[in-house]
Amino acid sequence: MTTRKASKKSSKGGTKAKALQSSERRDGKIDPQNNDAKTDDLQKNTEDNGGEFLTTNQGVRINDNQNSLKAGDRGPTLLEDFILREKITHFDHERIPERVVHARGSAAHGYFQVYESMAEYTKAGFLQDPVVKTPVFVRFSTVAGSRGSTDLARDVRGFAVKFYTQQGNFDIVGNNIPVFFIQDAMKFPDLVHAVKPEPHNEMPQAASAHDTFWDFISLMPESMHMIMWVMSDRAIPRSLRMIEGFGVHTFRLINERGKSRFVKFHWKPLLGLHAVVWDEAQKISGKDSDFHRRDLWEAIENGDFPEWELGVQIVEEKDEHKFAFDLLDPTKIIPEEIVPVRRIGKMTLNRNPDNFFAETEQVAFHVGNIVPGIDFTNDPLMQGRLFSYTDTQLIRLGGPNFHEIPINRPVAPVHNNQRDGFMRQTVNRGQTSYEPNTLRGGCPFQAGVDMGGFQSFAERIDAQKIRARSASFFDHFSQATLFYNSQTEPEKRHIIRALRFELGKVETPSIRERMLALLAQVDKQLANSVAEGLGAKVPTKLDKPMNMSVPGGVDPRKFQPKKVEQEIDSSPALSMVNNPNFPKDSIKTRKIALLIADGFDETAVDQMNKTLLTAGAMPKTVAPRLGVVTGANGSQVKVDFSFLTASSVLFDAVFVPGGDPSVAALSAEKEASEFLSEAYKHCKTIAGSGAGVGLLATSLAGDFTESNEAGERIAVNKGVVTTRAGSIKDLAEAFVSAIALHRHWEREPGP
Ligand code: HEM
Repeated sequence: MTTRKASKKSSKGGTKAKALQSSERRDGKIDPQNNDAKTDDLQKNTEDNGGEFLTTNQGVRINDNQNSLKAGDRGPTLLEDFILREKITHFDHERIPERVVHARGSAAHGYFQVYESMAEYTKAGFLQDPVVKTPVFVRFSTVAGSRGSTDLARDVRGFAVKFYTQQGNFDIVGNNIPVFFIQDAMKFPDLVHAVKPEPHNEMPQAASAHDTFWDFISLMPESMHMIMWVMSDRAIPRSLRMIEGFGVHTFRLINERGKSRFVKFHWKPLLGLHAVVWDEAQKISGKDSDFHRRDLWEAIENGDFPEWELGVQIVEEKDEHKFAFDLLDPTKIIPEEIVPVRRIGKMTLNRNPDNFFAETEQVAFHVGNIVPGIDFTNDPLMQGRLFSYTDTQLIRLGGPNFHEIPINRPVAPVHNNQRDGFMRQTVNRGQTSYEPNTLRGGCPFQAGVDMGGFQSFAERIDAQKIRARSASFFDHFSQATLFYNSQTEPEKRHIIRALRFELGKVETPSIRERMLALLAQVDKQLANSVAEGLGAKVPTKLDKPMNMSVPGGVDPRKFQPKKVEQEIDSSPALSMVNNPNFPKDSIKTRKIALLIADGFDETAVDQMNKTLLTAGAMPKTVAPRLGVVTGANGSQVKVDFSFLTASSVLFDAVFVPGGDPSVAALSAEKEASEFLSEAYKHCKTIAGSGAGVGLLATSLAGDFTESNEAGERIAVNKGVVTTRAGSIKDLAEAFVSAIALHRHWEREPGP
């Protein structure tokens, strides 16, 4: 099972003293090969309550935790009751503000290892030696919803990684989409106010499908590239374990000689890139709004540790201006076909947090947390972020000492003259808290660059102070078109439908019109298809110029978007279906439903289970009721879910084995045929054997007709795999191959 080192150790008691030593060597340094360095560090603050007396916060043992102190057993409660007062006061203060964005999140611990030294490019310590295991803590999130909102909102996913390196904490605070809505931090509060629930009625929750969001977007042509991504299936992932991650901004790598190169960071999921369909996402939100959180938690508990490779796109300084776009513009990607992504290491998540609040809620990521060997660029969105994160965390976490909260503190030693403030934990000894000093021999002293002291890259700046946007940021549509052109037909269909859904929820006709005009700049057929679904027409002329986000008193015509010819017309790496980086050849960790009832065909179920488990999938039985079901030959199988506690949207594929009594019982359950028809509608793989094929034929009537071949042979028809009397082993293998394709889009009707 998992490496739940923290819990095991602390349950033995005496956590404090023991834990301190396990990762620290005698010389006080951190053991570089110890990927548990952060887990060990957290031990200093981890406690189990096991087998101990109940006490107050002052350590006084409590005798009665059932009754408050009263004047007589039917009398009033006494103010004197310090035990009651302390307990209720603490409870009253249990909540902290949720994050202003990315409030809903799930996190896990793990480690990162570089494949080979990257010394040529960076002096960052954790990228030098493949032996070094750097602990990480990763938090995935949605952006718009509140803390308790559904996981399956159509939204960007945050992908924030904290590396606890020996040179200090380095955070990649990225998203699962490589570009952003806006180019300048000045617009971030506007964007977030527009997408959040509307201020007068606090609706809708965790959804962009409302007037204020699209009103804002319709006035921000720079958002169109991001809109293509957010309307694509990337915004409704099947699992957090199956998303890409991107640092979004261009950063710098700096080597030992001080040479700088530009870099874009990528995370490539080893389980591939997969999504659900929108109808499914909405239903999952009702059936299990913790779907992604549960999926991540269960995978780690099962020992199916999620993995990503860290990729870098490196651009030489001299090539800064050789692209059709500006490297500093966060609404642009560098297509992988132009600058390949080099995979330089692997991150593995192998431990669930011990306490959601202490770790997932209190973790504080910051795009400004960098280490020597990595540096910023002048991307004006990133520059604003450099201010925002500490500022927001000061209020969210209650003061300037949140770096001391266990999940945030580095494993690298911290020494400085910062003092005091709310909730200060460190007891700084001594007379001096300033530098320079002589009274403490100058300690703590500055580190020379050769001793790991951080030195900012000395970028030459020769400019006027000006509030402006570079003209090189004015191409708002070319990469949106590139993205759209790179999608397969089903993916284009999903974008069209997503836009019809979102704009269909918009009540103000002029907002829809402006959006249709913007979409026409991306692709005319896209705009026409969306318009058709809305019962509208793409306007040929707008009564106002396109870009309304211009400074006051200037002529907006001077700020009109321009198109720049791109180096390529299509980038397969932007498609989820055709992506060459993610071959569809595995069903690892996929959840497969086996619909059974008393009298099921045991041979078929045994064989199917065996094949699925060998392929790394998770077969689960679903039956009319919980408990056990008895097979045709009398053996008993535990039921994992009843039709009440399961739903087809919570599974990747479904199999109905034969066995006449079992199939008869399932035929009598409306939920069984709903399960199958919904799986069909969502283009999932379905299999049936023996009499089970009959249930498919009745449940999927109109969609599926039993093939004449289904006797001794295996029939595969648009992802429905059947046999009446053929080999179950062959059927199971064909089932696995079909599930690996993920979805069978040929079943989907046109837009
Ligand atoms: C000027 C633009 C932006 C501003 C002002 C901003 C601000 C914020 C704020 C205030 C938070 C809450 C942090 C906390 O309470 O701990 C946050 C979280 C986050 N932001 Fe941004 N953000 C901006 C752009 C971006 C971009 C472009 C990305 C992706 C590259 C991004 C990724 C994230 C992520 C992943 C989190 C959640 C971190 C976590 O899991 O705790 N943000 N942002």
